[in-house]
Amino acid sequence: MSKSFDVVVIGAGPGGYIAAIRAAQLGFNTACIDDWKNAAGGPAPGGTCTNVGCIPSKALLQSSENYDHAAHHFADHGIGVKGLAIDVARMIARKDAVVKQNNDGILYLFKKNKVAFFHGRGSFVSAGDKGYEIAIDGAEPQTVTAMHVIVATGSSARALPGVAFDEERVVSNDGALRIGAVPKRLGVVGSGVIGLEMGSVWRRLGADVTVLEALPTFLGAVDEGVAKEAMKLFTKQGLKIQLGVKIDAVKSGKQGVAVSYTDAKGEAQTLAVDRLIVSIGRVPNTEGLNAHGVGLKLDERGAIVVDDECRTNLANVWAVGDVVRGPMLAHKAEEEGVAVAERIAGQHGHVNFNTIPWVIYTAPEIAWVGQTEQQLKAEGRAYRAGQFPFVANGRARAIGDTSGFVKFLADAKTDEILGVHIIGPLASELIAEAVVAMEFKASSEDIARICHAHPSLGEAMKEAALAVDKRTLNF
Ligand code: FAD
Ligand code: NAI
Repeated sequence: MSKSFDVVVIGAGPGGYIAAIRAAQLGFNTACIDDWKNAAGGPAPGGTCTNVGCIPSKALLQSSENYDHAAHHFADHGIGVKGLAIDVARMIARKDAVVKQNNDGILYLFKKNKVAFFHGRGSFVSAGDKGYEIAIDGAEPQTVTAMHVIVATGSSARALPGVAFDEERVVSNDGALRIGAVPKRLGVVGSGVIGLEMGSVWRRLGADVTVLEALPTFLGAVDEGVAKEAMKLFTKQGLKIQLGVKIDAVKSGKQGVAVSYTDAKGEAQTLAVDRLIVSIGRVPNTEGLNAHGVGLKLDERGAIVVDDECRTNLANVWAVGDVVRGPMLAHKAEEEGVAVAERIAGQHGHVNFNTIPWVIYTAPEIAWVGQTEQQLKAEGRAYRAGQFPFVANGRARAIGDTSGFVKFLADAKTDEILGVHIIGPLASELIAEAVVAMEFKASSEDIARICHAHPSLGEAMKEAALAVDKRTLNF
């Protein structure tokens, strides 16, 4: 007989596992099904984020940044390093250990919250009086029934047409996170978030990295001033970024990978590399769910169609995270997971899309929340901008990282903060203040009048807020 649950979540990425925990906290008898396998074939909950996304990429970014500091910056502090070397196998093993800690942590959280975990692939069988029947294609195939289903099956890397990932030479984010030795020449297709983060990892370790981007603008979704600064800094670091290219063919062989492309001037070019990372966006995971069998509506991209509250077209079936519309970010998936569990409980869960922060974990980091200057201009909104450079911040000088700036955008009349854009040290942490401020509908004057610890990078936030009213104190 199949076990029955109040709530069954399909997928244990950040959207799914958090939804399951919140549903259990709210008193629902909850199960979570996930098919990710570790190297030994065992369960590895956490989805893309934990296994081949946020967590392992940040582990490698940290390792490579440490190496970069030892190679290029320690000398400034009077620290001499002889015989500096990178042991890539050790670095990858450390990353794998970090991933495992997170997998184990989620299994522990399931136990603690009494979430039943099933390892295998879940698919809809039928809808009936007792809810939905879901088959689990695990080591022991079984079915469960659920009054409510939350689909959180995530996304996978998009391949170039006709160029399959072999994860050896032509790699997705998966292969890019387990390259066994520093490639001499690395190609990256797509100068988005993955391309820049993974390109940075291998460049810092010594690879000659060329990034080929289809669009004529660099980081089009990012505030123009920040994108311009980023292009300048990344180019200075040695990333070769070519914009406006069209990939014509990719040939992979024993000697490496040859990428034929047409450059922005319309001239045919070839790039020969040892490895090629293809990071041109991601596609929702809906194959194998039997969505059509139960009439679950998908859009033309294969994403599950949901309303503003993550309801699908089927009663009591919800979907969250990368498998639905909106930014493909772990924290967006988590917020949607919590909101859906609360809606099932009759509460009023809410996700504010305008205050979802974005971070690109390059060095310097890039982080933003709210609207960009180009968006405000296109809307015809009257605004005031205030900018403060890290070069004028005492803590940044002490740390030895003075690149970049903080920019505040505020409504010209009401002074409400409309957007905050940071490129600089620890932007990922600094942006939290802006998110809180915007959630509370703060004005730039509010931030300008708040006492910030000295010396801290946070003072650059206060100074940029002061700059909106043209009264910076340290610049
Ligand atoms: P996923 O994390 O993709 O999880 C879905 C899970 O469901 C997977 O385990 C999958 O195997 C499983 N599944 C799929 N179908 C089934 C099925 N039928 N039955 C059972 N299980 C199934 N975001 C950030 O916010 N910050 C970052 O720093 C960041 N870095 C990233 C770096 C990289 C290299 C990549 C690729 C992504 C990164 N992201 C980052 C994006 C982030 O990983 C995703 O937005 C997030 O994982 C989405 O969560 P999810 O729960 O929707 O799906
Ligand atoms: P992306 O959407 O960030 O960037 C893809 C880039 O590839 C774009 O600039 C696009 O114009 C370009 N492109 C598309 N087709 C192309 C082609 N044929 N040739 C050349 N260029 C082409 O996608 P990416 O980097 O794959 O990452 C996927 C998603 O994962 C991100 O959008 C983000 O949501 C998430 N992510 C988030 C991170 C973070 O929060 N720090 C880190 C990594 C990923």
